[in-house]
Amino acid sequence: MTTANSGVIEWECPSNIALIKYWGKKEGQIPMNPSLSFTLSESVTNLTMEYSYGRNQTFLTEFLFDGKPNPVFGRKIADYLLAITPILPALRHINLKINSVNTFPHSSGIASSASSFGALALALCSLENMVTGTEFNEVLFYKRASYLARLASGSACRSVFGGFVIWGLMDEVPGSGDEAAVPLTDIHREFRDIRDSILIVSSGTKAISSSKGHELMNRNPFASTRAFQAVNNLKRLITSLTNGELNDFIEIIETEALTLHAMMMTSSPGYFLIIPQTLEIIGKIRKFRADTGLPVGFTLDAGPNVHFIYPHPAEMDVRRFIEKDLTEYCENSRVIHDKIGRGPERKR
Ligand code: DP6
Repeated sequence: MTTANSGVIEWECPSNIALIKYWGKKEGQIPMNPSLSFTLSESVTNLTMEYSYGRNQTFLTEFLFDGKPNPVFGRKIADYLLAITPILPALRHINLKINSVNTFPHSSGIASSASSFGALALALCSLENMVTGTEFNEVLFYKRASYLARLASGSACRSVFGGFVIWGLMDEVPGSGDEAAVPLTDIHREFRDIRDSILIVSSGTKAISSSKGHELMNRNPFASTRAFQAVNNLKRLITSLTNGELNDFIEIIETEALTLHAMMMTSSPGYFLIIPQTLEIIGKIRKFRADTGLPVGFTLDAGPNVHFIYPHPAEMDVRRFIEKDLTEYCENSRVIHDKIGRGPERKR
């Protein structure tokens, strides 16, 4: 047991962008299909956790979001901590104060739940190691963090690793499973420095949350076909990532993005999260690709903003094109230039 009665743990954890989409889940945060994302570099949450030994119950004494009290998020985190206490008994005698700060604006189309719950899960694992005096090896530590992050938010379990990451059982991927994510190795150099410029067309709150969207998949008539398609697309995407086939890669990620939104439209009730500017941008990106022959494409999250995906060598051309032809569709001309990153980092 550690002798310190209090202390501070700090983790920085990035968000991620899914290329094969997790959409629909079963009981216990088990995905309906495997998904694949890459972890971002600039869009991160910095989470500081102050702990002290004291009460005989887990107790979140303070939760600050971007330095200010946030009762809604605070309640969500307190419920989560209570729910995981049976699998993290170390929490029983600890008081926590948490301050979670994002480098990117809330509702900007970047999954803040992925980075914030990723950071929280990592901090909890560090806390557990300290309280119990166990030193997990690195592989087990991140696996446990991914597992704990998944229980808070599915996509968060992919954020605890850098690079390309798979969540969900795939026979072809050793170590993969529904309970936690695994990093994908053997990535061709074409993809090692891949870029994601996020075109913010609207930063407003979504009409239908992702949780509701997942739930609606339970009654979607195309759900089983979708799960089958996702597995196929994932197999093809892994092949393209291994062999450096950029054109296949682009074709698959665009199909995935459009299928995600097709699932929303074919839910009951059906709904749209894309807006006219989303379609304008997609049309322009496709035309730019046809005109220049550059292997660039897009993906979409559960929202209207467009993630413009391209390899590093295309960066100068793409940046010029965005400035000239795309910022006019963005809210206050806002674009966040991000790229693949190395994953989370413990700061304290
Ligand atoms: C469209 O991970 O936010 O971004 O598990 O309910 O927290 P919960 O859902 P969440 O869903 C993300 C859906 C997605 C696709 C993806 O990230 O794979």
